Amino acid sequence: MTIRSRIKRITPWPLHYLYRKIYYLPQDVPAALGFLFHKTKSSTTFGERLSLIKNFYAISYYVDCPHTENEMLAIARSILNLGADVPGAIVEAGAFHGGSTAKFSLVARLANRPFHVFDSFEGMPENTETHGKSIYGREHHFPKGSHAVGLEEVRGNVRKFGDVSRTEFHKGFFSDTMPGFRDEVAAACVNVDLVQSTEDCLRALYPLTSSGGVIFSQDAHFPWIIELLNDDAFWEKEIGIKKPALEGLGSSKFVAIPHP
Ligand SMILES: C[S@@+](CC[C@H](N)C(=O)[O-])C[C@H]1O[C@@H](n2cnc3c(N)ncnc32)[C@H](O)[C@@H]1O
Repeated sequence: MTIRSRIKRITPWPLHYLYRKIYYLPQDVPAALGFLFHKTKSSTTFGERLSLIKNFYAISYYVDCPHTENEMLAIARSILNLGADVPGAIVEAGAFHGGSTAKFSLVARLANRPFHVFDSFEGMPENTETHGKSIYGREHHFPKGSHAVGLEEVRGNVRKFGDVSRTEFHKGFFSDTMPGFRDEVAAACVNVDLVQSTEDCLRALYPLTSSGGVIFSQDAHFPWIIELLNDDAFWEKEIGIKKPALEGLGSSKFVAIPHP
């Protein structure tokens, strides 16, 4: 067990939560103000945007969330700014405890779009990938079964904190569940840690993405994901396009892959 996870274990949750929120304040405050004070293409009121921010913070308090609020607000803002000329659903790949799933379900409701979440609900698939340090210097390893959280727990969190009526759950490994998915996609959020899982998601979701839509990777702090996203041959052979412009790749956890 790492020192970080030991500290997390012995620190009372409210203190740990407070520490996390204070640590990320320099990025979270501008993201929250930007979200709050800018109108979005999907018509949202100031009150609705304020309520979404409050819900994001509450969800992170009650559900173990490995993402930051500024990442989620950037994704929310971009989803709410997709115009009616960009048809399609919101898709999430990688739910973990369902904190991000609950948040996206609320964003999908505001955007008036269907919402689909894909996960094995059994953690990582069998893999031979060797991992290591992220660009932030933390060690990460993703053996088979790690990050496993069952479907009923995730559904329960979405029911409690999000909009479960808008959420369609797709249980199974991406290589089994995604090829049969045919709906148009306006925005997809891929947070799946492994190269093979990211490949499965991009292979299935990119061709379904509407023109003007976007796929987000929240794994771009991992050198193995940076290498994949930077690989011209992957884009050309597997996706059938030239490598898109990926702003911020190599310096941020969060990368947007726009569909022209
Ligand atoms: C980092 S967690 C997701 C975190 C979540 N988005 C959040 O912010 O709370 C990664 C998730 O991806 C799922 N996953 C990874 N590879 C998968 C695959 N090939 N098929 C299905 N699920 C997969 C794992 O089960 C895990 O729930």
